[in-house]
Amino acid sequence: MAVLSIIGGRSKEWVIFESELRRLGDVLVCTDDGSYGRHGFVTDAAKDALSQGELDIVYAVGPVPMMRAVVNLTKPLGVRTIVSLNPVMVDGTGMCGGCRVEVGNQIKFACVDGPEFDGALVDFDLLMDRLSTYREFEQQALAPCEPGTCKIGLE
Ligand code: FES
Repeated sequence: MAVLSIIGGRSKEWVIFESELRRLGDVLVCTDDGSYGRHGFVTDAAKDALSQGELDIVYAVGPVPMMRAVVNLTKPLGVRTIVSLNPVMVDGTGMCGGCRVEVGNQIKFACVDGPEFDGALVDFDLLMDRLSTYREFEQQALAPCEPGTCKIGLE
């Protein structure tokens, strides 16, 4: 069995684990800006690999929009795709419900039931919605504070 890893980032400095993955097999590197490897998204390279019928199973790990895009490529082809979900996690024990996802019309907690799931069964719309729940607060936390006004102790 051969392993093909397709990795990418916005630009060269965002590409990680290339040397580690090369120990497993071939690696295709993609960058959004073309600064390293193939110019474009990992989904472009995945689409090409899928069109050649070379992939028996796909593991997609990364941003949710990317994992959803990969599943949108593989699902019609019947290629099993495992995704590693990254919802907001709070306690990591299955108690708080923060990491709730819907998989195969069942509620799952990514921290204890996953985080790997069959991508074809994941409700990505719900996951995307839940990931944006705290966006306003995250943006506030990342915004630079005026001197003497920082509420999160970053001064
Ligand atoms: Fe709280 Fe999973 S992080 S239930």
